[in-house]
Amino acid sequence: MMRLHLIVASGALLLALSCSFAGQPPSAPAPAPRSRLGFQARAALADSPLVAAEFEQVMFEYFGTLAEPQFLLLEAWQESGFDPNGSPLAGARPASDSLGAPPGAILDDNRRAWARELVAIESGTVLKLGPWSRRRLMSRSWTELAAKREFLEPTEFKRRATNFFVDRYPDLSEAAQMYLPNCARCHGREGAGDGPMSRRLFPKPRNYQYGLFKFAAVEGGSKPRRSDLVRTLVHGLPGSAMPSFRGTSLAELSALVDYVRYLSIRGEVEALLLDEWQSYDLLPREAALELYSMIWERWLAASERAYLVQAPPREESPEHLALGAAVFHEEARGNCMSCHGDEGRGDGPKALMQGEDGFSYALLRDEWGEFILPRDLTSGIFRGGRRPEDLYLRIHCGIPGTPMSALGASFDGAGQALLSEEEKWALVAYVLSLSGF
Ligand code: HEC
Ligand code: HEC
Repeated sequence: MMRLHLIVASGALLLALSCSFAGQPPSAPAPAPRSRLGFQARAALADSPLVAAEFEQVMFEYFGTLAEPQFLLLEAWQESGFDPNGSPLAGARPASDSLGAPPGAILDDNRRAWARELVAIESGTVLKLGPWSRRRLMSRSWTELAAKREFLEPTEFKRRATNFFVDRYPDLSEAAQMYLPNCARCHGREGAGDGPMSRRLFPKPRNYQYGLFKFAAVEGGSKPRRSDLVRTLVHGLPGSAMPSFRGTSLAELSALVDYVRYLSIRGEVEALLLDEWQSYDLLPREAALELYSMIWERWLAASERAYLVQAPPREESPEHLALGAAVFHEEARGNCMSCHGDEGRGDGPKALMQGEDGFSYALLRDEWGEFILPRDLTSGIFRGGRRPEDLYLRIHCGIPGTPMSALGASFDGAGQALLSEEEKWALVAYVLSLSGF
């Protein structure tokens, strides 16, 4: 029965094709390009095709497509000269947006990354770019430039060729092409954390669409700075499947972060639009501008919420450690043992329950809806880094999206900070001592 349908259908298709080959212009205009909706929106809008079509159209206007990403420019940005589609090297980004990787650092890193090519250009040789993947992206524009060589003054050619490498900053479409082979198998094409490998992983790859990131030096549940995400790409997240991409140039890492941010903003706006429609009957076109501006504002405000850790005290006395141990175990203060357990093994009463069948059951969940275990602090594996400053950040800022809350935002009855600086550093020393470092 199925087969028969297929044959009939393909017959109809052939007929349709042969008609249009007969020289008649197609009567219906080509459909406008649309953005592909995520699976949640597709499922929720299955019975409302008109709304779904408007939804796709609005998403296209704001975000282009996954392969040809393009942010809609807000009027407010045009005045300030901010262009999220442009290269920060061309001055299209305010300093706050590229905090941690100022344009000068990217230029210097490019000079290092392309040293061989730059020497060759200086000595008058024109290189062929290697076929390996990061260069494949550049090879077409490089070939175009190399072809112009004979029409240009040698000094002019040298200048352009040098700038080609030194100013290199992949745009969003190039970043999309780097993302697909390197990240999508875990994080999914749309950044929903649902790539084909994700099923077998614990913890799960991050779903960027919640706009929540764990390892950032920011307070108050703010969005991460771009430099926080670059840091994660350089170091990876030890103890999870997230690999390190050390060795990739800073420009390419920053561009990958641009694309992660793109997927995150796109996913978050889509989820909020869906919510507006389901809860208040608000059509996507009515709600989009406000939500888009709001989410963007949060990303751009991240650098204002940055938390700069002071240098760790050089204190290593037994009293300092004893203070840390006391705060760790005291319910009204650190209360760390309630989750991490008396010995820090990640088996505290809030985290695990002993079932009557003798098995332990996980009790905590993260905001992505997955079960989560507190870290075994004796393992010596810390995802956000194991320098004292890194651990201080985790304790002070918490780990967003997880039950590990921010002590920096905890106050006692009199409105005083729950823990003093000294006590927080003592906790860091105690946590490090648990793992023998
Ligand atoms: C083999 C699987 C895998 C690959 C490949 C992978 N990741 Fe991840 N990634 C993970 C996992 C797992 C986590 C979550 C770890 C956790 O929750 O602690 C993660 C987390 C992240 C985070 C979140 C960091 C935070 O602070 O919350 C970012 C950003 C990220 N990955 C970006 C990337 C990018 C960009 C690529 C490609 C260049 C990539 N990942 C490739 C598995 C992977
Ligand atoms: C409500 C439960 C809870 C409490 C209370 C808690 N934690 Fe955690 N903690 C967690 C969870 C869950 C994780 C794992 C987060 C993850 O996997 O992303 C974690 C992770 C950590 C990490 C690992 C960071 C890294 O980079 O891998 C450290 C260090 C830590 N906690 C220290 C502490 C200290 C010190 C205290 C007391 C001030 C504390 N925690 C209180 C639940 C808790």
